[in-house]
Amino acid sequence: MLKELHLSLSLVLVFACGLLYQLTLRSQCFFACLPPFTSPQGLEGLLRNGRSIVFIETSERLEPPPLVSCAVESAAKIYQEQPILFFMKGLSNATQMTSNTSSYPAFSLLSAINNVFFVPLDMKTLFEDTPLFSWYTKVNSSREKHWLHVSSDASRLAIIWKYGGVYMDTDVISIRPIPEENFLAAQGSQHSSNGVFGFLPHHPFLWACMENFVEHYNSGIWGNQGPKLMTRMLKIWCRLKDFQGLGDLKCLNISFLHPQRFYPIPYPEWRRYYQVWDRDLSFNDSYALHLWNFMNREGKTVVRGSNSLVENLYQKHCPKTYRVLIQGAEGTVSRKSGKGNR
Ligand SMILES: *[C@@H]1O[C@H](CO)[C@@H](O)[C@H](O)[C@H]1NC(C)=O
Ligand SMILES: *[C@@H]1O[C@H](CO)[C@@H](O)[C@H](O)[C@H]1NC(C)=O
Ligand SMILES: *[C@@H]1O[C@H](CO)[C@@H](O)[C@H](O)[C@H]1NC(C)=O
Ligand SMILES: *[C@@H]1O[C@H](CO)[C@@H](O)[C@H](O)[C@H]1NC(C)=O
Ligand SMILES: *[C@@H]1O[C@H](CO)[C@@H](O)[C@H](O)[C@H]1NC(C)=O
Repeated sequence: MLKELHLSLSLVLVFACGLLYQLTLRSQCFFACLPPFTSPQGLEGLLRNGRSIVFIETSERLEPPPLVSCAVESAAKIYQEQPILFFMKGLSNATQMTSNTSSYPAFSLLSAINNVFFVPLDMKTLFEDTPLFSWYTKVNSSREKHWLHVSSDASRLAIIWKYGGVYMDTDVISIRPIPEENFLAAQGSQHSSNGVFGFLPHHPFLWACMENFVEHYNSGIWGNQGPKLMTRMLKIWCRLKDFQGLGDLKCLNISFLHPQRFYPIPYPEWRRYYQVWDRDLSFNDSYALHLWNFMNREGKTVVRGSNSLVENLYQKHCPKTYRVLIQGAEGTVSRKSGKGNR
């Protein structure tokens, strides 16, 4: 009981710091993000409801690129009654944000959305009271080749275990609400992803995942702590069958959602998002679209007026991001090049 009290007090503290920080940030971005932050439900409400949508940035980067901004804005639009929490490693570094805010257009536009909350990601505190703590205190992050990914894999498990809610990668555009409480997303037959998943607080499946993470930790194998971990655990907990038609599978109280829900365009075809919109693609069977950003090494972006699928998705699902970062950015570019010509 005392331990629980202690835990919840420290959680409140973590969040208080986060929100204080946010207050500070909001008061710093004078013009861009008025009116100032007020939360009608307060901290307690955010913590208690267990229905947050969670995004994570494990690098020191503060300014979200357009796709990240779109992911967060689209979630805020679809889940208007739920808090969208964006955990950022860089926010635990107070020196970074003191520079001028005109260099943070996406951060400013997201801060101004009233159900979006930026929270510093403090891994040490986060992993306390979970199986991940022993691993975290032993690992030397500067020797880990894929630290940004591995630490993100760990953080998402701990956050959703502690608070409950839905975790999403920052390249997932939400298009309709997910009507599930405990779920994993299939990337293919018998293969789970860890790019989107949701659980009620303290679900034993995630606790088991954290134990398995530590037990079978091998950062040399790509995805071993990520999709492969989820797939491994699902096979231990359930006797998985192949999907029949478009239906989801159910195992205990966990839904295993059909690849169409989040991956209607499979990764070998990721470039289709950047091609001219084919109107036959209606995504009627999907809740959100994973854009496979890690495949995009050639740096494809949204080009205004290209009528690409992704441009249409931005216009419909993240109109502010489209206006400020796509239309506005081109304005800046032409102004800049105008200056250059002088
Ligand atoms: C804090 O941010 C600054 C500016 O980006 C960076 O140079 C510095 O290394 C960061 N400090 C820590 C402790 O991460
Ligand atoms: C604000 O930041 C931008 C981009 O970093 C920089 O070019 C500009 O000079 C800064 N403005 C002021 C007033 O410091
Ligand atoms: C972590 O690894 C780096 C690079 O190998 C090394 O310089 C550093 O001393 C190590 N830190 C600890 C705490 O062992
Ligand atoms: C879901 O199933 C697990 C394992 O069977 C159980 O411990 C947990 O309480 C269940 N949760 C709910 C909400 O039914
Ligand atoms: C998708 O849903 C919309 C509206 O519910 C409907 O008009 C359209 O025909 C559907 N498209 C397909 C391909 O099922």
